[in-house]
Amino acid sequence: MDIAVVGATGLVGREILKVLEEMDFDIDNFYPVASERSVGKKVSFKGKDYTVISIPEAIEKKPQIAIFSAGGSTSKKWAPEFAAKGTFVIDNSSAWRMDKDKPLIVPEINAHILTEKDKIIANPNCSTIQMVMALAPIHKKYGLKRVVVSTYQSVTGSGAKAVEQLMAEREGREVEKVYPHKIDLNVLPHAGDFEDNGYTTEEMKLVNETNKILDDNIPLTAMAARVPVVGGHSEFVNAELKKPFELDDIKKIIGEMPGVILEDDPANNKYPMPVISKGKNEVFVGRIRRDFSVENGLNMWIVADNIRKGAATNAVQIASYLIKNGLIN
Ligand code: A2P
Repeated sequence: MDIAVVGATGLVGREILKVLEEMDFDIDNFYPVASERSVGKKVSFKGKDYTVISIPEAIEKKPQIAIFSAGGSTSKKWAPEFAAKGTFVIDNSSAWRMDKDKPLIVPEINAHILTEKDKIIANPNCSTIQMVMALAPIHKKYGLKRVVVSTYQSVTGSGAKAVEQLMAEREGREVEKVYPHKIDLNVLPHAGDFEDNGYTTEEMKLVNETNKILDDNIPLTAMAARVPVVGGHSEFVNAELKKPFELDDIKKIIGEMPGVILEDDPANNKYPMPVISKGKNEVFVGRIRRDFSVENGLNMWIVADNIRKGAATNAVQIASYLIKNGLIN
């Protein structure tokens, strides 16, 4: 198997390399790819140094898989060129997610829809991935009538420069600002860019991508906030179910969902938190309780490392699915 990682020098790209190492992928040729300014630099992978190459060079190598995490415009321009050479592109940007001809995949939920013709596969937004991982088993058994989600998103979701802004503010250093305001000791009711409808792009991704992955008929609304946190995204989810449920059964089916860990023991102060999810591949769910204000109402708290399951892990799992299911020859 020959694999290219486009954006290998970035925050998510470096995590993709770690996940590939941890999953012990059988790789014959590995191609780290980045922008022209990084070409020639060295990247360490599986104990060896590899030289960063350009996108056109990588296309000519015709790898079976190219995992992209280099932004939407790079992906829009270059993913079709890889695909034209027969490479499966797994793309972390939002460029292809809502394209009706491109599958939007969370392997535990809908990898079965993939065929060998799907040469460009979209990885959902980090906040969407962790939410649908918890909602999928509930929707399957009880049906979701309506969902309200509020996110508390880590600065790592805005790239390496955002982490640097937080740390610089904490240490009293001057630095280039990624956010329009101070982020340390603050909460920004603003993640992504504002759209004409008053929502942000992050909020609309939660709505549209969840509909595409789970069911077009689920009404959702979202609020996305940026918090001075590094380890992962947290989400409060309020759901109305179509059928009556027992809380114990909700906990059981969430706990049985592959890739989800139930962490719900409030009496012992056990609940999901970003400092615990950091560096882990799973999604953590806790604070599961009834919403007494509506019929069949449910509240819960969902945390995951947005760079892992929200990006790198999910992408590598898609690659693994393609290989294990014989979609790549
Ligand atoms: P580079 O390091 O050369 O800038 P992050 O999201 O952490 O900023 O990372 C973005 C990643 O995408 C980096 O690896 C970056 O490479 C890469 N990248 C950005 N623009 C391009 C481009 N036009 N072509 C290829 N790689 C790109």
